[in-house]
Amino acid sequence: MQLPDETIEYQYARLIAPPAESWTPLAELQAKHLLSDDRVEAMKAKLNTVRGQVAAERELQNPPPRLQPLQAGFINLPQQTLDSYRRKGDASELGKVLRLSQRLKENTDRVVVLGIGGSYLGAKALFDALCHTYHNELPAKMRMGKPRVYFEGNNVDNDALAELLELFENACVDPELPEERWGAVVISKSGGTMETAAAYRAVRAEMTKFYGPKSDWLKQLLVPVTGPKGKLRDLARAEGLPDDDILTIPDDVGGRYSVFTPVGLLPAAIMGLDVRALLIGAAAMTKRFLEEPFDRNPVLQYAAVNHLMTEELGKTGRVMAVWSRKLESVGFWYDQLLSESLGKNNRGATPITSVYTRDLHSRGQQHQEGTRDKVINNLVVRQAKHQPIVLGMSDRNEDELNQFSRKALPDVLDAAFKGTNQAYAEAARPTADLILPGINEHVIGQLMQMLMLATVVEGRLMGTNPYGQPGVEAYKKNMMTLLKATPNLPKGEVADQLKGR
Ligand code: PA5
Repeated sequence: MQLPDETIEYQYARLIAPPAESWTPLAELQAKHLLSDDRVEAMKAKLNTVRGQVAAERELQNPPPRLQPLQAGFINLPQQTLDSYRRKGDASELGKVLRLSQRLKENTDRVVVLGIGGSYLGAKALFDALCHTYHNELPAKMRMGKPRVYFEGNNVDNDALAELLELFENACVDPELPEERWGAVVISKSGGTMETAAAYRAVRAEMTKFYGPKSDWLKQLLVPVTGPKGKLRDLARAEGLPDDDILTIPDDVGGRYSVFTPVGLLPAAIMGLDVRALLIGAAAMTKRFLEEPFDRNPVLQYAAVNHLMTEELGKTGRVMAVWSRKLESVGFWYDQLLSESLGKNNRGATPITSVYTRDLHSRGQQHQEGTRDKVINNLVVRQAKHQPIVLGMSDRNEDELNQFSRKALPDVLDAAFKGTNQAYAEAARPTADLILPGINEHVIGQLMQMLMLATVVEGRLMGTNPYGQPGVEAYKKNMMTLLKATPNLPKGEVADQLKGR
């Protein structure tokens, strides 16, 4: 596939303190809150060593205890997935993803995706970034065969799930009509996550009620995505699903690094996204990370300067300021990636996703004048997808906008972007720009792979294992103990409630 030049860039010049000719209050602030060129320069040797280490970790079969857990499989996976599809076609994992997504697209109008954490946030980020903002509201003709997509199983909110099932009950009455059929994708690598497992029970019960307990649709329209072994695979098999209809998350890919496994690819294909372009973008980023020098390597640049900001300048807050509301969920996906990967041993930056300009009217004040504990990474989109909306001339000019009549929303956004960063620079508030040429699958593939690689590099720089999330176990353990200790509902009441569903 021939792709235009759509490489993403990281520009961090504003994080570097300009040489001070004489003492000024601003120069003093800059010396304190920005980096020196020398400091970045001095990192380069260490970065090269870490890059070599991360590259070598891909090949380790039996990692030493100090490196465990090690789940570096995500690094080569995009290229491997493309290669395997080229060689094996339908029999490859991507071939299976495309076949099962086609089945759901052809036979349903709604699909609910169940999963939490790394088994949810990537797919949600892809949906929000790459689908129409009002995808689920669009008439079927405009959706062109793509089902509406819902996300559940990412909390234990009784009423949210009840209301989704209520929607299905009212919108989907006749299972004979394809436009009223719905399906589900259940994603859990371990198969043992309470939030997802509980939602799956409720969703399956609802599907059974709708299609009938013997209906083949229960097997056709319910697709599990899970690890090579575990409770969800056992359950799916027990429910009569052939192994070919169960998608696999490789053992050596951790949850929050799994967006380019069927965890993200199946929902993406159901949404009608170009999954190959996603993978091509991700594979290109891996290649760039492994081969390019620092000056052309956004992974190394981002990891280095953010590491220095956190570890040496005490900027423990890391704001991802997304200048497109379509990217907010990419920010939430990164929140989890950073938190679970580096929030260990009483260290690790705290991620904060802000949508600009929206949050300039809430967090903006704090970012401009509050505690000096943050670095801001702007996520900027160079080119809007749609025709610019021009302000235009109006008969009434009480709002005084006629002076801008030949300006369009992208011009306003550009002025807001430049004005904001100028204001931050004048107060020595550190900002850098992650620049996307546009929003499409190829670009988002690059971006997500870049942030995953940068997180691993940062972990290795600070001596923190970026894989595993031991801290998450504490709440799970307590929740199970408490659940076991509290009395169950009386039998009759359970039966009544199930009947009601
Ligand atoms: O990054 C991770 O590994 C976690 O966030 C998991 O994705 C999350 O806990 C869900 O786990 P599972 O897919 O096993 O249900």
